[in-house]
Amino acid sequence: MWQKKWILGNWKMNGRAAMVADFAAACGAVPDGVVAGVAVPVPYVQAMRAVLPDSLLCGAQDVSRFDVDGAFTGEVNAAMLADVGAQFVIVGHSERRQYFGEDAADLSAKLQHAQAAGLLPVLCVGETAAEREAGREMAVVSEQLSVLKDKNWDNVVVAYEPVWAIGSGRAATVAQIEQMHAFIYGEILSYVAQGANIRILYGGSVNADNAPALLKIAHVDGALVGGASLRADSFAAIIRAAG
Ligand code: PGA
Repeated sequence: MWQKKWILGNWKMNGRAAMVADFAAACGAVPDGVVAGVAVPVPYVQAMRAVLPDSLLCGAQDVSRFDVDGAFTGEVNAAMLADVGAQFVIVGHSERRQYFGEDAADLSAKLQHAQAAGLLPVLCVGETAAEREAGREMAVVSEQLSVLKDKNWDNVVVAYEPVWAIGSGRAATVAQIEQMHAFIYGEILSYVAQGANIRILYGGSVNADNAPALLKIAHVDGALVGGASLRADSFAAIIRAAG
């Protein structure tokens, strides 16, 4: 599983119950060399897990920073996500950082609770356009990765998603991705024990057309796919491209 290419979809706040079964049916077979999955809104996690084949992972897009049950109206904790069949959870997506003000302390707690509940966290990092223009992209990503510290990682999945590439139709260039993924790999090594499994996904305007080239870049172990995961045919094409 850890030598394969990972293709994870992120529906964001999209979808309806009626889409779930169609998506699962249309995703098609996952090639041998690929791990594929989709993170859906919480109300659809259980239904999606029920209809997805075993070869596809079902995930959530966020988890509470509180792990105990109790008086936290509106929150969903890691144990609940695991209970309804989630296998992975996106943590620190730039939209969470931007609209919900999630900071390093929140993300550190979320990573810890996901791990404790047996969910695989997928940590998102990435700079804004202004930060890249200021030449600060490495510093920003390095700082974001520091939430990995002080945890025992056997398996780490990080998604590099430059904020300016998300939903813009303008993926980062091969050179930008190559440089950043090599950098991220080096940084992750400083937080994990020897032999830990590391997957670094690229995200930001990945589609069926650009996926084959993006997935060939060194240290690109897969993709986190937003818009193109909403249609099962385009998502299935990306899964096939990874195979
Ligand atoms: P996009 O989103 O593929 O629509 O650019 C990626 C993401 O935000 O995970």
